[in-house]
Amino acid sequence: MEKIILDCDPGHDDAIALMLAHGNPDIDLLAVTTVAGNQTLEKVTRNALAVARVAGIAGVPFAAGADRPLTRPVEVAPSIHGESGLDGPELPEPSFELDGRHAVQLIIDTVMAHEPGTVTLVPTGALTNIALAVRQEPRLVERVKQVVLMGGGVHVGNWSPVAEFNIVIDPEAADIVFSAGWKVVMCGLDVTHQALATPEVAARIAGIGTAPAQFVGELLEFFGRTYADVQGFDSPPVHDPVAVAYVIDPTVVRAVQMPIAIETQGRLTTGMTVADLRSSAPADCPTWAAMELDHTGFWDLVVDALERIGDP
Ligand code: BDR
Ligand code: CA
Repeated sequence: MEKIILDCDPGHDDAIALMLAHGNPDIDLLAVTTVAGNQTLEKVTRNALAVARVAGIAGVPFAAGADRPLTRPVEVAPSIHGESGLDGPELPEPSFELDGRHAVQLIIDTVMAHEPGTVTLVPTGALTNIALAVRQEPRLVERVKQVVLMGGGVHVGNWSPVAEFNIVIDPEAADIVFSAGWKVVMCGLDVTHQALATPEVAARIAGIGTAPAQFVGELLEFFGRTYADVQGFDSPPVHDPVAVAYVIDPTVVRAVQMPIAIETQGRLTTGMTVADLRSSAPADCPTWAAMELDHTGFWDLVVDALERIGDP
């Protein structure tokens, strides 16, 4: 079992990442934390609890974290995720309360309570909570197994010509996380733009015939429309579950070791994940980028998780 903490901003693809983590038998979901990003902290936290109810998640602590980036103003993404942050399906009321702790404290407590090298952090939003956690408890660098994140890309962008949303909204936090020295696997746009929810994928999900699968179908319908209108995609790229899928089965992507640094000062390039491709990376280089996705293998994992969740 791979122990993970999912730090997210649901968000259509975050919601599917959460369901994959819950439904997959090889993942031990230790905690779920939220961070402002796709929408305000209040909205994404409410959405996380709604998804928990739909998927029948119980006994996992959920905590709210940073309500703004480290130094910059809040930037949200209603053009992609709607006013609620999870527009499309009807969102049920939460069935449990948040953990009383701040997300940063929950992350620290959870990692420190487990054997060194056993907990993977899976951030699928801005890296604000993770940066704050490692600043508050520097021993996290040695304690966590790895950080497998959705964000960035090798010189591609979606929120600017060269920057991806999760990184560009809090580049100072991303800089802290990428330069901490722990193993970072960047599941960026190179690989997540291959995670397309094609009509065949949508049909597979519809065929499951459960309420959570229908919920995912409604999410994909809305997400597909905004991605078509705003970014010109025929089918929406379902970014965040790729990071969870990598933890389940690293062979679902092809990851390449390469030095990656975050641009925080650029006039045109702030938030760029600058990868050094000039020669092969030194053996001790801690940063990796996922470059290719096994599309069928990835969606098999998502469909399998939804089948296992059933109708809770
Ligand atoms: C990332 O930005 C968010 O809108 C998505 O949830 C994903 O984490 C893609 O750039
Ligand atoms: Ca996200």
